[in-house]
Amino acid sequence: MKSIDVLLTQSFVQDDLILKDKNLIILDVLRATTTMTIALANGAKEIIPTESIATAVRVAKGSKNSLLCGERNGKVVEGFNLGNSPLEYAPDVIKDRSLIFSTTNGTLAIIKSKFAKVCILGSFINISAVVDFVNSVNEDFTIICSGKQNDFCLEDAVCAGMIINKLSAGRNLELGDSEIAVLNLCNDLAMMLNVPSQEKLLKLFHSSEHGKHLSRIGFEKDLEISSKLDSYPFIPIFRNGVIRFQEQFEDDTDQKSKMKRINIGIKSTEVKKEKISET
Ligand code: MLT
Repeated sequence: MKSIDVLLTQSFVQDDLILKDKNLIILDVLRATTTMTIALANGAKEIIPTESIATAVRVAKGSKNSLLCGERNGKVVEGFNLGNSPLEYAPDVIKDRSLIFSTTNGTLAIIKSKFAKVCILGSFINISAVVDFVNSVNEDFTIICSGKQNDFCLEDAVCAGMIINKLSAGRNLELGDSEIAVLNLCNDLAMMLNVPSQEKLLKLFHSSEHGKHLSRIGFEKDLEISSKLDSYPFIPIFRNGVIRFQEQFEDDTDQKSKMKRINIGIKSTEVKKEKISET
């Protein structure tokens, strides 16, 4: 990594082209990026983020083997198959399914990243994997906090701060005001003797606006799952409109080239047959 900066809410992105060719890390700790990482780890084929409920319904109509997923105000969208609680995304429910997603903040931030060079999803459950990936690429990165209805939210800011804390290990990073602010928030609210503390993280979630709301409407367990540091060390990647793990993109490419070879094979035999029949 060369440099890192933070956008405290996605509302700073007024034009998606601002993010063109950038390397991005999208955070929506409670709960979109946490749930999406768990859904892919539990065997979902892919996730298709959409900017609205109407678009999600339209996309689902056109795709086989898909489920409509998402929330508004934390609750499942009426008529959708699943909400946004990671507990709903069990292997027997979502294996090999395409998940068409629409959430209040997370999917909007992801959609805004469509022109990015690289776009990965981050949360506390995959934070070290994200930091290792960023360290492996000698380029600039931007963290986008999804926030809460275009406003600042504590949990995304602290997650951004923890990524910067880990990236600062053993080097002096050039940091701007937003980066210094989230780093200090993290050191104060989520670290114990400069070590990430799951206990402090859970306490933070219970004191954050959205965390309190989710507890009030019965999703307390989601806070605990979202605080489990590095429990799912995998990196979801948003590319060409879908979210998958790198291996899933590679498998798909292999499949496609295998099919191509088969088709070429079929064609060549047909040609041969034709040739044979012509003679
Ligand atoms: C979002 O994308 O707005 C959040 O993930 C909402 C939620 O899960 O409560």
